[in-house]
Amino acid sequence: MTLRAVPVGIGHYLPQRVVPNAEFEAMEGLDTSDEWIRARSGIERRHFAAEDETTSQMAIAAARAALDQAGLTPDDIDAVIVATSTPDLTFPSVATMVQAGLGMGGGFAFDVQAVCAGFVYALSNANALIIAGQARRVLVIGAETFSRIMDWTDRTTCVLFGDGAGALILEGQDSAGTPEDRGILATDLHSDGTHRDLLYVDGGVSATQSTGVLKMQGREVFRHAVEKLTKTAETALEKAGVGVEDVDWVVPHQANIRIITGTVKKFGLPMEKVIVTVQDHGNTSAASIPLAMSVGVADGRITRGDLLVTEAIGGGLAWGAVILRW
Ligand code: ACO
Repeated sequence: MTLRAVPVGIGHYLPQRVVPNAEFEAMEGLDTSDEWIRARSGIERRHFAAEDETTSQMAIAAARAALDQAGLTPDDIDAVIVATSTPDLTFPSVATMVQAGLGMGGGFAFDVQAVCAGFVYALSNANALIIAGQARRVLVIGAETFSRIMDWTDRTTCVLFGDGAGALILEGQDSAGTPEDRGILATDLHSDGTHRDLLYVDGGVSATQSTGVLKMQGREVFRHAVEKLTKTAETALEKAGVGVEDVDWVVPHQANIRIITGTVKKFGLPMEKVIVTVQDHGNTSAASIPLAMSVGVADGRITRGDLLVTEAIGGGLAWGAVILRW
């Protein structure tokens, strides 16, 4: 018998305020257009959190939706992992705020910070905890308020990001140990800290005692993205003992439609097998994969037994992929 981390519930939350590209077009001095943003990124609109709305509040809302879908209560959860680079406070973790907000009577909670690859890293951590017998049910959340770290005078970054949260509950279940099992079949993680300057926030606790704003060399990140995402997804598929022809859905990090199409083309898969939400959400960093997964489940595309590939790359650089049978 093999213990697998099996998905039992998923949900998401998006802030009420929807910001279409036209709002950026109208911003004096920004010099951008709806046409440029759509053509270069595929983004049409994104959600921004209200002024008093925080990452933990969005994470709690997504977690409640996932618990409802699973038919579970907060006390059924052993551990909470939140992937975020935009926490409410420097500490405590957003995860402990979620634990308190849900009214969990026990368990443990911590954050994972791997920027846009955060959800893939969090899934891998949750899988390891379940397989090691340290937790039976893990609530894995990606939640971000990137609108708080934008430079609103930089047209090359401020039009690309959005806010939101997605939550997935994984449960340890005995299985036969074959690629036909439900649950996480394989994970593949990488990072390369020498690329720090390609994508970073220019503020922080020990360096500046400030929050800072996002800085990105977009073209360079793009160049790394397609190559590294294709390789990590192929490695993860091999580890899982499945082929690209077995894939039902690719649920990629939603940074840019051109990265998504480029990567999927390299896999040799048609776009009909990809869940795309970047047009509606923008890049929500660690929240983008659980948001897309939740949308795909809610609209009936992702169904029980489907083989999913998730892959992401972001600041660090950090990247990775997870193979999951729904
Ligand atoms: N409106 C109008 N023009 C613009 C805008 C804008 N919003 N932004 C840039 N431009 C201009 C540039 O100044 C440049 O003008 P120039 O030729 O006169 O110098 C021109 O458009 C082309 O710029 P490029 O940067 O070459 O455009 P590109 O096609 O590479 O698209 C983009 C830029 C969308 C940022 C793309 O490179 C990209 O998506 N990169 C990857 C970003 C990403 O995936 N990040 C993921 C990780 S995010 C995370 O981890 C937090």
